[in-house]
Amino acid sequence: MKRQIVLSGIRATGKMHLGNYVGALKNFVELSEDKAMECFYFIANLHTLTTHTNPSELRESVKSVLRDFLACGIDPNVATIYAQSSIPEITELSWMLSCIAPINLLTIMPHFKEKRDKMHEAGMTENAGLLTYPVLMAADILGVKSNLVPVGDDQAPHVEFARELAKKFNDTFGELFQLPKFFGGAGLRLPGLDNRGKMSKSETSSVIYLDDTPDIVRKKLKVAITDPQRIKRYDPGDPNVCNIFNFHHALQTAPLDIARITKECKTGEIGCVECKEILSKVVNDILAPIHERRAKIIGMGTNYIDDVLHEGGLRARKVIRKTVNEAKELVGIPCY
Ligand code: TYM
Repeated sequence: MKRQIVLSGIRATGKMHLGNYVGALKNFVELSEDKAMECFYFIANLHTLTTHTNPSELRESVKSVLRDFLACGIDPNVATIYAQSSIPEITELSWMLSCIAPINLLTIMPHFKEKRDKMHEAGMTENAGLLTYPVLMAADILGVKSNLVPVGDDQAPHVEFARELAKKFNDTFGELFQLPKFFGGAGLRLPGLDNRGKMSKSETSSVIYLDDTPDIVRKKLKVAITDPQRIKRYDPGDPNVCNIFNFHHALQTAPLDIARITKECKTGEIGCVECKEILSKVVNDILAPIHERRAKIIGMGTNYIDDVLHEGGLRARKVIRKTVNEAKELVGIPCY
């Protein structure tokens, strides 16, 4: 049986957080354990250039993301793990795709609008890379002829865009690409601890990082926003408006605990402190094996990290180079 091709990436912008885990890394691991899947996971350091300009930070971030991939349990002998910058052919494909990409679709992408507005607020002008960000993503996805793209739901419009470009390329130049599909929980977007939008690296005070200790997790949750109407200990609460309850759902707290919290929050029997204690345990149980593996990986030294990136880069490049050469032939721009 032909295996399904899975591909996803994470930008090299610092430490991974619980949102990355819930939206992406958890699925990366599960898919890589499925023998019917062939997985490609990469560190999107070219995409990072749209918002970051510090070369040494960028180099360090690539290694830190790789450590998190491995710490979450992705086996580099099973999945192909690489840095986007190891595969120059991706930018060739990106150029070909940008020449069939409708600019009006690019200007309405939520990611573009959000980043552009932030840049304007900071008195900056958005760069062209930010606009063509989804085209480069499409090149990542189509370069391995991927079928499934596990990402958080904020990235779903970009996967849809890649699918549209794949169709347009096939219709214009000849059948080459699979039509990729979004893989993930619809609507699954882990909020920040302050419940002002999704958990994000740029909002450092409302993030739980994958390397946070149990004590830090407890402290962060202690001050996290709950149902704003619940002021005194025995006030009845509403789980539907409580941010902590969103976390219980997204992190799959045991059904019995969820049922109890749902019932006893409404009657005021369970307080926010106890509810947060249950959540701290859930979070720390997720993080404990990640910390253990991360410590082992750090103990293996930086050569190990370099080797994983190098080996993965060679493997991925072979596959992507073949696709890009096929695309160039179809488009009529071979290497003379
Ligand atoms: P990045 O680094 O912004 O996000 C990495 C992954 O984490 C998910 N994510 C979340 N999921 C749920 N709740 C959250 N609060 C949360 N925050 C982040 C994101 O949805 C994403 O899956 N553009 C991609 C990187 C990329 C890529 C690709 C992905 C480049 N090329 C090709 C797939 C295929 C990104 O935004 O990464």
